[in-house]
Amino acid sequence: MTSPLQLGPLRVETPVVLAPMAGITNAAYRRLCAEQGAGLYVCEMITSRGLVERDETTMSMLVFDELETTRSVQLYGTDPVYVAKATEILCGEYGVAHVDLNFGCPVPKVTRKGGGGALPWKRNLLGQILEHAVAAAAPYDVPVTMKTRKGLDEDHLTYLDAGRIAEDAGCAAIALHGRTVAQAYSGAADWDAIAALVAHVDRIPVLGNGDIWEAADALRMVEQTGAAGVVVGRGCLGRPWLFRDLAAAFAGDDVKTLPTLGEVAAMMRRHAELLCEHMGEERGCKEFRKHVTWYLKGFAAGGPMRRSLGLVDSLAALDGLLAELDADEPFPVSELGSPRGRQGSPRDRVVLPEGWLDDTDGTGVVLREDAAETTGG
Ligand SMILES: Cc1cc2nc3c(=O)[nH]c(=O)nc-3n(C[C@H](O)[C@H](O)[C@H](O)COP(=O)(O)O)c2cc1C
Repeated sequence: MTSPLQLGPLRVETPVVLAPMAGITNAAYRRLCAEQGAGLYVCEMITSRGLVERDETTMSMLVFDELETTRSVQLYGTDPVYVAKATEILCGEYGVAHVDLNFGCPVPKVTRKGGGGALPWKRNLLGQILEHAVAAAAPYDVPVTMKTRKGLDEDHLTYLDAGRIAEDAGCAAIALHGRTVAQAYSGAADWDAIAALVAHVDRIPVLGNGDIWEAADALRMVEQTGAAGVVVGRGCLGRPWLFRDLAAAFAGDDVKTLPTLGEVAAMMRRHAELLCEHMGEERGCKEFRKHVTWYLKGFAAGGPMRRSLGLVDSLAALDGLLAELDADEPFPVSELGSPRGRQGSPRDRVVLPEGWLDDTDGTGVVLREDAAETTGG
C-alpha cells in the first residue's frame, strides 16, 4: 500500500499520473482512462503563447469532459511572461486544479528554439519561468509542477539542478523521464536517475516516468527509486485498463486485466464514441484511427481488417467491423511487459540554438515561442 500523492493542496489518492501525450491525452482519452482507474489525468500539451493569443488550435485542445472534476493541463513555454499569463488564464478562466510545465520535449524543431528538453540547460531562465508560473497560480492555490528529462545528453545532465530549481521556485513536484533528449524514446529509462533525484531533492515529491508497461513495473519503480508516484505514458496506449490494474496495485491487490478481443472491441467502441462526442463524428473517427494498431497489438486480426479499421469514418462502420472480430480470442499474454508506442532511435546530437551550451544562465534570453507548437514530448 502506498501513500497518496500530495501536490501542494491537491491530493491524488492513487499516486498515478497519466503522462501528457500530444495528440493522445485529449478529453475523450482522459475520460476513458479515468473510467478505468484512479489518479491524475493530464491534458495534452498546449502552448502558453497559443493560449494567451487565443489561437484556434490551442483553444480546441483545451476541452474538458463534463465528469472531469480535477482539471490538469500541461503548458509549454519559453518566456516567463507568456507562461505566467497562460497560467493565470488556466486558473482564472478554466478552473484548473494543476498546471504542469513541459521541459522534456525532444523534438528538434522545439529544441532548436531552446524549448522543451533544451531549456533546463539555462538554469536561471528555467527558474524564472517556474517562479512566474508559481506566482500566477498562487492566488488560486493551484500547484505547479515541472516535467523534464535527465538532460541534453549524458555529458550535459540537468535534472539534479532542475530539481533544486523547482524546489526553490515553489513547484509542488518534479517528474523525471529517465532519458536524455538525445535518447528520445530509445533505450531503457534510467530509474537510477530517478532515485538520484529523489535523494537530491528533499522538499517536494519526485514522480518517476519511463517504461512502466505493467502495474507491477509501477510498484517496482516506486520501490527502487523512492518516487512519490508514477507517470505512465506509452504503456496505456490501446490499454486504458492499465489504470485499473495500477489502482489495484497501489491498493495492495494484484490484478492483471486480460480482456478478450470482444472486450477490447467494446473498449475501442467506447473510445471512439467519446472522441465523437467531443469532436464530432468525422474528426472523432479520424482521431480514433491512430489507436487501432495499439488496441489490436498481438491479436490475430489480419491486415485487411486492420486497414479497414484504420480508415474508419463513422461509428456505424466501426460497429460493422468490430462485429467481425473473434470476440472470444483471448488476450495475447506474450504482449505483457513489452514496449508499445514510439521508440525510435537515439540522436547523434541535439539540435540547439547557436551558442546554447556556452553558458548555463539564460537570464533575459528571449526565445521565440511558437503559438501552434503541438508536438509535445
Ligand atoms: C505520442 C507521445 C506524445 C507525447 N507528448 C508529450 C507532451 O506533450 N508532453 C510531455 O511532457 N511529454 C510527452 N510525451 C512523453 C511522455 O509524457 C512520457 O514522458 C514518455 O513517453 C516516457 O514515459 P513512458 O515510458 O511511460 O511512455 C509524449 C510521448 C508520446 C509517446
